Amino acid sequence: MVTITELMIPSYANFGGKIHGGILLSLMDKVAYAAASKHSGAYCVTVSVDTVDFLQPIEVGELVSLKASINYVGNSSMVVGIKVISENVKTGEIKHTNTSYFTMVAKDEKDKPMKVPPLILEDKTDVRRFVEAIYRKNLKKEKKESFKNIKKDWNQDKINTLLANERCIQRLNG
Ligand SMILES: CC(C)(COP(=O)(O)OP(=O)(O)OC[C@H]1O[C@@H](n2cnc3c(N)ncnc32)[C@H](O)[C@@H]1OP(=O)(O)O)[C@@H](O)C(=O)NCCC(=O)NCCS
Repeated sequence: MVTITELMIPSYANFGGKIHGGILLSLMDKVAYAAASKHSGAYCVTVSVDTVDFLQPIEVGELVSLKASINYVGNSSMVVGIKVISENVKTGEIKHTNTSYFTMVAKDEKDKPMKVPPLILEDKTDVRRFVEAIYRKNLKKEKKESFKNIKKDWNQDKINTLLANERCIQRLNG
């Protein structure tokens, strides 16, 4: 487990005075890198991010902690689970703001993907996380395939049906 904790300073705020989503993404990428690098003993790159939902806003002055663990390893890839919590330092109130999964790949000196050590699963939670990562990986594949099929069956009737109840107006030129 790797943890990064950072105080949210005023320059991290967006126009609404809350912490900018990009600041959190950058911190998440850092902690994912640290966890993956530590597991593999190698330089790692971010390949994919599995949905980031910002569940609650983070305020300036809060202390944000990002906890990362390796949930799954393939050959060169590792899925890093990241939990973000934010603490109001004055009241001690803690909120869970988001959880996400970053896929990182370890690279060798020639910049090629390299094999990483297997993951030792020490308890039922480790097993559950590993299995969930497999399901998520398979779902991603299925989603990719079904999106390809949607594009294959693309026709104006289907588009018109789909858009009938949406808030858009088609003004096609030609
Ligand atoms: C990711 C990258 C290493 C893949 O290289 P490649 O030569 O295609 O290698 P492979 O096809 O063998 O893929 C390597 C691993 O990445 C995984 N991978 C590739 N694309 C993926 C994706 N979109 N989502 C999840 N995993 C992916 C593969 O499943 C494979 O995993 P495994 O070794 O555990 O089986 C290469 O595309 C790369 O360097 N991308 C840029 C990464 C980067 O710069 N990130 C920073 C973003 S600013």
